[in-house]
Amino acid sequence: MKAAAPTDLAGLARLILSKDCKSIVILTGAGVSVSAGIPDFRSPGGMYDTLKPELLTCTSSQRRLLERDPTYVVSWDIFQNNPLPYHEVRRPFILGTGEKKWKPTASHHFFEQLHTRLGKLKRVYTQNIDGLDFQTNIPNDLILPVHGSLASASCEGCGEDMAFEEFGHMVKTQIKDIYGEDPTAPPESTPIMCKQCRKPLVKPTTVLFGRSLPEKFFRCHLQDLSDADLLIIAGTSLVVSPANSLAYLAPESTIRVVVNLQPVGSDLGIDYSGSSPRDFFAQGKCDDVFGALMKEMDWVS
Ligand code: OAD
Repeated sequence: MKAAAPTDLAGLARLILSKDCKSIVILTGAGVSVSAGIPDFRSPGGMYDTLKPELLTCTSSQRRLLERDPTYVVSWDIFQNNPLPYHEVRRPFILGTGEKKWKPTASHHFFEQLHTRLGKLKRVYTQNIDGLDFQTNIPNDLILPVHGSLASASCEGCGEDMAFEEFGHMVKTQIKDIYGEDPTAPPESTPIMCKQCRKPLVKPTTVLFGRSLPEKFFRCHLQDLSDADLLIIAGTSLVVSPANSLAYLAPESTIRVVVNLQPVGSDLGIDYSGSSPRDFFAQGKCDDVFGALMKEMDWVS
């Protein structure tokens, strides 16, 4: 498409509704789920900011590594040697997912309507493991959870699946509560063993740092971007690759819209000068921005 980047939400609404805009790719991050009650990773109060290595079951050298780099808690490097810190940090998130505690936000429903009202949604690439996109009416095939999903479990070693209910029960009864919320939790953690290979490597089907993204990501992203008229990037710091590569792999002709609390991805080539022919920054909370955009599109009364 040879349209110019919009300069405000009214222009973005016109662009999305226009006949020239046929294909929309979305890349989301934790910011689109914050209003559902799930903290992001890197903001103050986020998972990495609040990580307390001193509460985790680990060796002193593992603790030093966690203090230096909190993302180490979701890495294959520590998990293969000691899976307990991962389970301890993720315990409430795993149990809450089993209970469907969190619901899709206004942002998720905006993405849904790009499909249900317009049929223009090519794919949602979500870095989120919370499964909220799957609770909308977006067909599963159009959702690509690039960092996997928390809603199923398998052995990271041999690949054997474990029923999520059974896994959730084991997390509840075998993993201690470092958040001080569950008096029924055990005082100490014990590993969750795989019944097939007998290794303690069962975990949600999420992607650890040091492991590969789902094959579908590599199969789909270049093709999806090749004819994308619009790439919407929402609620992500754009610091984790290769998910963030969508920002610079989109062809020159693709309009890029960033919806975030602050500018992200300048180092990836997103232009915040305000005079870019292809980039538009809608600063604010995702739900507020997409809510205002839906008003511009006459999708809300
Ligand atoms: P981050 O926590 O890195 O970034 C979230 C971004 O969303 C930040 O730029 C926030 O300022 C912004 N934000 C927060 N709340 C917002 C709101 N209500 N509206 C708009 N913006 C908001 O989260 P991700 O970018 O998703 O990977 O993190 C990427 C990956 O890093 C995750 O998938 C995870 C993590 O390590 C793995 O674990 C493999």
